[in-house]
Amino acid sequence: DKGNHRHFMAKEIYEQPETISHTLSHYVDMGAEKVAIRETLPFNFADLTRLTMSACGTAFYAGAVAKYWFERYARLPVDLDVASEFRYREPPMQKGGLSLFISQSGETADTLAALRYCAGQGQHVASLVNTLESTIARESGVVFPILCGPEIGVASTKALTAQLTALASLAIAAGRARGSIDEATEAELVRALTALPSAVSEALAAEDQIRDISKRLSKAKDVLYLGRGPMFPVAMEGALKLKEISYIHAEGYAAGELKHGPIALVDEAMPVIVVAPSDELVDKTLSNMQEVAARGGKIILVTDAEGARTVGHGVADIIEIPHVHSFVAPILATIPVQLIAYHTAVFMGTDVDQPRNLAKSVTVE
Ligand code: M6R
Repeated sequence: DKGNHRHFMAKEIYEQPETISHTLSHYVDMGAEKVAIRETLPFNFADLTRLTMSACGTAFYAGAVAKYWFERYARLPVDLDVASEFRYREPPMQKGGLSLFISQSGETADTLAALRYCAGQGQHVASLVNTLESTIARESGVVFPILCGPEIGVASTKALTAQLTALASLAIAAGRARGSIDEATEAELVRALTALPSAVSEALAAEDQIRDISKRLSKAKDVLYLGRGPMFPVAMEGALKLKEISYIHAEGYAAGELKHGPIALVDEAMPVIVVAPSDELVDKTLSNMQEVAARGGKIILVTDAEGARTVGHGVADIIEIPHVHSFVAPILATIPVQLIAYHTAVFMGTDVDQPRNLAKSVTVE
């Protein structure tokens, strides 16, 4: 049932304030401002020397954001790879590490093969899934649910924000167990998570403006997405979503890589979507935006009020999202990139929920 929405994807985008709350209520004790992991862990975060994550597509980008969190807040070294590369690379692994597999469906063939490889290498196997009765869940030592309800649209939306919410909670738990964050920091990060559902509702209110921008985007041949730090995976996710459902060519790049190649593409016909809420890196991104503007590129800036004030001068299109703690900013920043892809696809007249050539669950290699 699509409710009042034209597509399941729109319904799932709009469900996110509730689905994030639901995921949070599983992982967080809001009153105590603490993370409370209910699953029995077959390992101790404090003893881990390494975390290895593998996933595909959007689930891989969830892992790519989480890598920043586990490194920064838990001081845990992280290896991350797309499952289809990881499984054939057969990397040597030190016994006792934790391998975490992220999959909405729990049936992705490459992710499952990566899991079996890691189990054979003496790793603790954990998975983060939506479908609890799936093969990946069954073969895992511990299963972390994301609890966002069935996702029907082929383009993943609410599963991503649920994966990120759960991963953020796990990173806090790991940080506490490893002594790299104290109780006060845990409380600060938990408050940041608790503020998310209402911030997501506010971000969804930019829909009319995004529809106008998307109308112009639907005429573009290529679109570049840029981000730094945890916004880099958000940029890649934005590009993937646009490709999947609008069939417009898009690329996500680390903003600092711009001058190492992609800037050669920038001209008046090239929209460049810069995902840059105010943080310690926003000034660096400003210089990349100036490089784009100097070549006539059309910038669409996703930022908060502070970012608009400090780096938004001369930018015609600013999509403003509420200011949140930088810890949860990548979760919030996925909302406008989802809406951009959705509305562009609607203008293109594509089959949004069943895009050509794609399957919801990729059970072949
Ligand atoms: O079910 P999974 O999370 O393992 O699926 C992984 C990818 O196939 C999936 O995220 C895909 O990239 C989506 N179509 C993205 O919107």
